[in-house]
Amino acid sequence: MKIFLDTAILDEIKAADAWGVLDGVTTNPSLAAQAGRNFKENILAISALIGERAGTVSAETVSLETDGMIEEARLVTSWADNIVAKIPLTPNGLAAVSQLAKEGIRTNVTLVFSANQGLLAMKAGATYISPFVGRIDDTGHDGMQLVRDLVEIKNYYGYESEILAASLRHPLHVTDAALAGADIATLPFGVMKKMFGHPLTDSGLQRFLDDWATIDGSMRPF
Ligand code: G3P
Repeated sequence: MKIFLDTAILDEIKAADAWGVLDGVTTNPSLAAQAGRNFKENILAISALIGERAGTVSAETVSLETDGMIEEARLVTSWADNIVAKIPLTPNGLAAVSQLAKEGIRTNVTLVFSANQGLLAMKAGATYISPFVGRIDDTGHDGMQLVRDLVEIKNYYGYESEILAASLRHPLHVTDAALAGADIATLPFGVMKKMFGHPLTDSGLQRFLDDWATIDGSMRPF
């Protein structure tokens, strides 16, 4: 499973990149607002950083009309080869995705909350499809079931879209997305950091260091 970071904050992306586990980045207008930087400059900085790993960065359109979405998608994807246009799942959005697919422009269809919506996005030629797991959980329903359903539909018919589990809120979401067969999971930086944590790793490491320190200095290389 590919791991993307769901953030527009460059320092977070640099940190995750240094761990060698980062395959891409997703942003949205809310995350862009949090970054507080010029949108194009920020997307280009992210693009350059993850481009070294052949990763993609998703930049979201804000027009509600098909023509406007297409125009914005053409613009953002013209900035660099690894930028993907993020487009909301509306009828106008799907029309835009379908046209952009014909032009070879990659899209990430966002705000997906049902299997039928995802099926339509697959048929329209979306590159990535983003089911929002946490926001479904917030309504008292099982968000991960949508990921399982989309993976099953994709595999059953052989659609090429990649299922990108989004709105992940905690490490168990990541494990469950991997077990569901999601192609990609996009995570807030805080969730990625929590994936490292285990108290037995910490205590085990401390015990190794303590025991190592009991060896006579002349008998160890470092
Ligand atoms: O990738 C979508 C994500 O940014 C939404 O997450 O936590 O606002 O539901 P959240």
